[in-house]
Amino acid sequence: MEGREYRSIWYEPASDQVRIIDQTRLPHHFEIRTLATLTEACEAIRAMRVRGAPLIGITAAFGVYLALRENPAGLREAVSQLQATRPTAVNLRWALDRTARALAREPPDSIAARALQFAIELADTDSACCEAIGEHGSLLLERLWRAKTNKGHPSVNEGHPSGRGHPSTESPGHPLQVLTHCNAGALATVDWGTALAVIFKAAAKGIPLHVWVDETRPRNQGAALTCWELRQAGIEHSLIVDSAAGHVLSRGMVDVCITGSDRVSAAGDVCNKIGTYPLALAASDNQVPFYAALPVSTIDFDWPSMESPIPIEERGAGEVSMASGIVAEGEEAEVRQYPESSPIRNFAFDITPARLVSGIITEHGVCKANRESLAELAGG
Ligand code: MRU
Repeated sequence: MEGREYRSIWYEPASDQVRIIDQTRLPHHFEIRTLATLTEACEAIRAMRVRGAPLIGITAAFGVYLALRENPAGLREAVSQLQATRPTAVNLRWALDRTARALAREPPDSIAARALQFAIELADTDSACCEAIGEHGSLLLERLWRAKTNKGHPSVNEGHPSGRGHPSTESPGHPLQVLTHCNAGALATVDWGTALAVIFKAAAKGIPLHVWVDETRPRNQGAALTCWELRQAGIEHSLIVDSAAGHVLSRGMVDVCITGSDRVSAAGDVCNKIGTYPLALAASDNQVPFYAALPVSTIDFDWPSMESPIPIEERGAGEVSMASGIVAEGEEAEVRQYPESSPIRNFAFDITPARLVSGIITEHGVCKANRESLAELAGG
């Protein structure tokens, strides 16, 4: 933004403040917000000021610090309040379990400082994992693009100074057509993203890309956040309504689908933003590969397969019945789209069976969506 690189969450030592980009304000306003207390950290996760599986885990780790800064005896209560904010993304539990373990034997006079150090370490690790996901995934996109153009290696340019964009205009052939759902970008993690990291890295290598962005009703993370990130990076993209995905897939307008994930079962089933499952079905029906990109912290080895239930978040009806945006005069407004009289169910996630998943892209490489490959990946 304006020549400055931001992470989606960071700590400012000079003021002892935890800061976030408030994602509920994008794309119309870029606003930075301070999280000063445990209550504010919980509210930010619940209200989706921060969102995306990896980022809510890291925010929770900083939330533990904020709690212990006030009350060095408050570890257990902080973990329990943070854990209750959102139920589906396993990264929240992952980050809280690790934080609680790291602090278990810490004396009261140093526990807050150690919590802060641990949250910063987790944030740095998340950023490095996402960059590695991008590297591995970009090799996959390069192979797909070579196969598509059958013209050998694309002309590689230097890319955007940030290393995240601007495919070469001199590259031969048509762009590789990538479709993504929701926002699995830098905003959903500490930095880089997962599905979008793959796209940023491929674009920086000079692979010409065009990204189809699903709107992602009802909160429109695709339209509001993914399009915003792709614009910042100068990557060609088009916004489509969710129900248009089947159409573009069936017309041969998509070469590969890549999404993020909130939880992957030990058998390779992919839980992600509502609408991912029908997308994977349409991709499979049209022989278009469907990949999920995620850090290993998103794999829940305690979830054997989708035959066993996991908590699927249901959010408020207002997210469906109301729409918010900018009216002609530039003022923000919220409007009612539907009367309150019909009951609304607002399921936030669905599960795509492993059989529809062509592969899982992680920081360790790309593997098959099955029990053996995932176990091997975690072991190595
Ligand atoms: O409800 P959200 O916006 O938190 O859902 C986010 C997603 O479903 C993402 O695809 C997922 O968390 C992966 S983010 C790298």
